[in-house]
Amino acid sequence: EIIQGDGLLLLPAFVDLHAHLREPGQEYKEDIASGLAAAAAGGFAHVCAMPNTRPVNDTRSITEAMIARARAIGGPALHPIGAITMGQKGAELTEMADLKDAGAVAVSDDGRCVTSSSVMRRALEYAKTFDLTIIQHAEDHALTDGAQMHEGAISTRLGLRGWPRVAEDIIVARDVLLAEATGARYHVAHISSLGAVRILREAKARGIAVTAEVTPHHLTLTDAAVLGYDTACKVNPPLREQADVDALREALADGTIDAVATDHAPHSTLEKDCEFAEASPGLIGLELVVPVLLDLVRQGALPLGRLVDALTRAPARIARLEAPTIKAGARAELCLVDPNLSFVLDPARLRSKSKNTPFLGRQLTGRVKMTLASGRVVFVDGEGAAT
Ligand code: NCD
Ligand code: ZN
Ligand code: ZN
Repeated sequence: EIIQGDGLLLLPAFVDLHAHLREPGQEYKEDIASGLAAAAAGGFAHVCAMPNTRPVNDTRSITEAMIARARAIGGPALHPIGAITMGQKGAELTEMADLKDAGAVAVSDDGRCVTSSSVMRRALEYAKTFDLTIIQHAEDHALTDGAQMHEGAISTRLGLRGWPRVAEDIIVARDVLLAEATGARYHVAHISSLGAVRILREAKARGIAVTAEVTPHHLTLTDAAVLGYDTACKVNPPLREQADVDALREALADGTIDAVATDHAPHSTLEKDCEFAEASPGLIGLELVVPVLLDLVRQGALPLGRLVDALTRAPARIARLEAPTIKAGARAELCLVDPNLSFVLDPARLRSKSKNTPFLGRQLTGRVKMTLASGRVVFVDGEGAAT
């Protein structure tokens, strides 16, 4: 499928399964208002917010406060993801029944991995009784202690400690077995390694209830982007190699990887304008999905229909949300995209409070012109904020 003509594309609005909106507690990076404004500018009508806030979203009251704040703003809908363990400390399970009742759509300890097999097994069993998906940040911390980037030729050249692929693969493999044993729903966050893709493919072929998401940056960048110690490219899991990128693209195209999720991870300039070893990991993504991923469609690596499914129906299914669809009489949740509009990414244009993206200053093609969420116009290109 080729994007053709001069016209605008009409698409269902997107659902992000994985964003860090930083409220409560780290509003200098982002808050719910700025995060949802960025989401609207990116074409999103629904944003699932990760629980690694300060305090961690491990209780009903925080989940409820986040939803109330978002409703008062009136932009895209916010769906909190609750923590799996209290304080994301990996030991005591949260009251998932309360979290779900308060509006949480899934549970995750993102930013940390649930590394204990026994805690993970109990979490899966418990979440299953509430039909909640467990979203795992798959990282064996015993293998990533002090790691700064992907372990390979470039980490050696730069003299930075590496985060080997196998640290991800080991956890995905174990969790797939635990998901099979418990019958619970297990979702791999920001999958990045070719080995994890292979395990996922085998698991799905065997009928295990496992799903996965991939980020735009893992689909388009490699560890070569870190050369020159570019802290904008420091992220967890790290940018890997071309063979991984190829495996991720193929798996997204054939449906092995279900969804695209941004892992929008805002950090202040101070947290990136420093030594590589000191820099906070993560990059922003809500406003960049369309230009970055339409490039894959243009290159013939991904059919447009599959990309749209990965941004709408697939994430909605995983979070048990109603997927935005375009049909007569439906409450409008859609976006209009100009696939041919080329621009240089200017930080002043970004609605996010943080500007940490390696795409700054790059020539990009494809822009969201308008977004409707829950029947209301939530974004018009050129209006509001800085243009
Ligand atoms: C995320 C963050 O900053 O909260 N950082 C990142 O590098 N992706 C945490 C996470 O997604 O693991
Ligand atoms: Zn993570
Ligand atoms: Zn994350």
